[in-house]
Amino acid sequence: MTRDYMVQYREIKKMVNECNGEYYNLPYYIGSGISRVVFDLGNYIVKYQYSYNNEQLNKQEMTAYRIGVKNGVSDLLAKPIYTSPDYKWMIMEKMQSTVSDALKNSLNDTERKKIIGEYEYVKKKLKLALPKSSDLHRGNVMINKVGEMKAVDYVW
Ligand SMILES: Nc1ncnc2c1ncn2[C@@H]1O[C@H](COP(=O)(O)OP(=O)(O)O)[C@@H](O)[C@H]1O
Ligand SMILES: [Mg+2]
Repeated sequence: MTRDYMVQYREIKKMVNECNGEYYNLPYYIGSGISRVVFDLGNYIVKYQYSYNNEQLNKQEMTAYRIGVKNGVSDLLAKPIYTSPDYKWMIMEKMQSTVSDALKNSLNDTERKKIIGEYEYVKKKLKLALPKSSDLHRGNVMINKVGEMKAVDYVW
């Protein structure tokens, strides 16, 4: 990871600490789930876990990725690059579009069928390799800028 990303990461961290939970209004905001919010770093994203009803999701995801590597499915998982020592923050490979958005934006049936076929394949393989990854809905599986489909929110 280059210095630029670290500078931007620190900038985002500072803004998050000062925004009183209004993450959605911050620059670089991409999206959020039940307990994490995601910001844009260019070729990477950063996930911040703001809610701890759940476990340490970034830590879990890092472990799940290692198991994915062992089980030969790492190409179907967006790659984690770095987690902060307290696991509140994680830097990850950036994906472009969710499967649900890709389907919304698809031009014809052939394209839709291709996307759905690939999505079913990814889900099937990941369920075998990471059985607890039950939450692989169309918002948690994404396509990157070279057209590869990968899960962005996974456990093992
Ligand atoms: N690697 C990524 N690249 C681009 N967008 C992402 C990435 N990871 C997550 N997102 C976006 O942010 C949203 C929330 O992230 P997610 O990991 O699902 O958080 P949560 O664990 O809280 O559900 C996702 O649904 C997706 O839209
Ligand atoms: Mg999610």
